[in-house]
Amino acid sequence: MTQLHPVGIAGTGLCVPSRRVTNDDLAKVMDTNDEWITQRTGIRERRWIEDDRNCSDLATDAARQALEASGLGPEDLDMIVLGTVSGDCVFPSVACQVQENLGAKNAAAFDVNAACTGFLTALHTAQAFIASGTARNVLAIGTEALSRIVDKTDRGSAIIFGDGAGAAVLRRHEDCGRGEILKTHLGSDGSGHDLIILPMGGSAHFHNMPSYDPSKHFIQLKGREVYRFAVNKMAEMIRWAMDGLDPDEVCCIVPHQVNQRIIEGALERLDVDEEKVVVNIDRYGNTSAGSVPIALHEANERGLLIPGKYVVLVAFGAGLNWGATLIRW
Ligand code: UT7
Repeated sequence: MTQLHPVGIAGTGLCVPSRRVTNDDLAKVMDTNDEWITQRTGIRERRWIEDDRNCSDLATDAARQALEASGLGPEDLDMIVLGTVSGDCVFPSVACQVQENLGAKNAAAFDVNAACTGFLTALHTAQAFIASGTARNVLAIGTEALSRIVDKTDRGSAIIFGDGAGAAVLRRHEDCGRGEILKTHLGSDGSGHDLIILPMGGSAHFHNMPSYDPSKHFIQLKGREVYRFAVNKMAEMIRWAMDGLDPDEVCCIVPHQVNQRIIEGALERLDVDEEKVVVNIDRYGNTSAGSVPIALHEANERGLLIPGKYVVLVAFGAGLNWGATLIRW
């Protein structure tokens, strides 16, 4: 992409619910156990949203933290782009609710629907608006309340997913002097659209249709098929992001927290130091659009993002969609 204005990340933030759900908790309500979940996924616990909160609340708290870190106020924002598949309503957008919650009255606000690639899609959209000179300060968010849309008796899906949100404030690089986004790639393959799907709530599936099926209110996941795609795509995207770079100059790789074994499977195909790969799936599970920005913020807090070194973000998920971003921190 030709960039009139190089773009930087001025601040990051996260919000995860306080309610912890361990593997043992799940084993009380479905036929599973801690050993299976830990060995097959790396997940030990996940967070589920409190009964009195919604997806937009998580997004708002993450956004407030990112704004504070950036030194900007809500009225400085001229756009909010938000990735989610578990928004408060089918419409209007969660981004508009966040705009109202923040008091970001000068910001246009809209959602993008790219599942686990939601944050990278929001980030790339934000970057494009700033790079072209159309916007100056943009908030990119990934947020999910997936526990509200999984069948809590389905051991094939409920064990994986968790709730949480992450956010980043993007500005012209000349305005913030850090986190310069050097390149981003997004891709899609709609032939895999039924591998991870939530049919109900869309207009093709409705309550009084002859073939109404209540299970269609929940995420339907063909995990084994996604597994193969995910290992290959994660390796391919990291290779793309690091092409031409000295691996020693890369300080951090932030992958979508899909499954510990998928991350390890991808790394086996690459010449990458495992220590540089941020993994928090043991504590949060797979938070879809929340996953990459939560891990990015934690890496930021832990001082793993070293000024002048490269950071790689990589994600993939329902659609199928995928993406990667290379940043010079
Ligand atoms: O972010 C994008 C969305 N995420 C994904 O799409 C996830 C990608 N896929 C995965 O992470 C893995 O495929 C899963 C974690 C979903 C499943 O792991 P797996 O190693 O692919 O297991 P499997 O589905 O091949 O099942 C193996 C066995 C089966 O039993 P049999 O047929 O071998 O007797 C399952 O019935 O494990 C059984 N099983 C379980 N057992 C205990 C499946 N889920 C569970 C469970 N607890 N939760």
